[in-house]
Amino acid sequence: MSPFKTFFFTALLAAAFSASAADFNSDVNVAWGNGRGKILNNGQLLTLSLDKSSGSGFQSKTEYLFGKIDMQIKLVPGNSAGTVTTFYLKSEGSTWDEIDFEFLGNMSGDPYTLHTNVYTQGKGDKEQQFHLWFDPSANFHTYSILWNPQRIIFTVDNTPIREFKNSESIGVLFPKNKPMRMYASLWNADDWATRGGLVKTDWSKAPFTASYRNIKVDACVNSKGRSSCSSKPNASWYTQEMDSTSQARLRWVQKNYMIYNYCTDTKRFPQGIPRECTTRS
Ligand SMILES: *[C@@H]1O[C@H](CO)[C@@H](O)[C@H](O)[C@H]1NC(C)=O
Ligand SMILES: *[C@@H]1O[C@H](CO)[C@@H](O)[C@H](O)[C@H]1NC(C)=O
Repeated sequence: MSPFKTFFFTALLAAAFSASAADFNSDVNVAWGNGRGKILNNGQLLTLSLDKSSGSGFQSKTEYLFGKIDMQIKLVPGNSAGTVTTFYLKSEGSTWDEIDFEFLGNMSGDPYTLHTNVYTQGKGDKEQQFHLWFDPSANFHTYSILWNPQRIIFTVDNTPIREFKNSESIGVLFPKNKPMRMYASLWNADDWATRGGLVKTDWSKAPFTASYRNIKVDACVNSKGRSSCSSKPNASWYTQEMDSTSQARLRWVQKNYMIYNYCTDTKRFPQGIPRECTTRS
């Protein structure tokens, strides 16, 4: 790190919150994959690959307690059946919190499934799945997680696809106490990912590669139990709500592209759908 960069980074940490754009070298470590994960172009690009012996993954150097993280991802092209590409936040321990984007691959010409979930204290079961309105392997698209004390908003190219509100007032757990690290990975899940595991990974097409760029972290950095947001951060994401335009976009996505919603899965919840599903959102 150059002296200027070190100074800049320290100054940012000292500020109310940390914002950084587009440098994988300063924000993440390639955590696994034995050389299959690579940071390229001076930190501007990160590629993950998967072959028969291993996938690969990276993780943020620091943990965050609330923030907005944007990531541009270009998914595995062609026959990606059996592969799963991820971008998520997760805390440590057996009662962890987690906010997930997972992209389930498919045969050439068949659509990817974007799977989302939220876990609080080790309990998930809040899946919503979508198809996308574009081919996510043809170009980079921006996937964002906005996480503040009131809500989690998942967006794709600035279009909200899901809002998970804090419903603690009606007794629903919400992730807000545990700092989370950011993770991303590419791995083989052909036992379940594509058509429920019917379609297997075609290893003759390996290695499979997914690319990440333009990481933007605007978050409260949590280190040794202390948040860089000593006071309430003066950042729009911290208080952001869904305005009427966003709500209209969300309804458009949910009407046309949602393929699974735990909230309407009455077979799965015979004793009644989860409480947060009964409030308007
Ligand atoms: C794969 O394509 C099939 C056929 O269009 C579709 O039913 C399925 O949802 C797609 N995604 C996955 C992950 O299987
Ligand atoms: C918060 O940020 C806005 C826009 O950057 C600025 O105008 C305002 O003065 C800031 N408020 C505080 C209390 O720092």
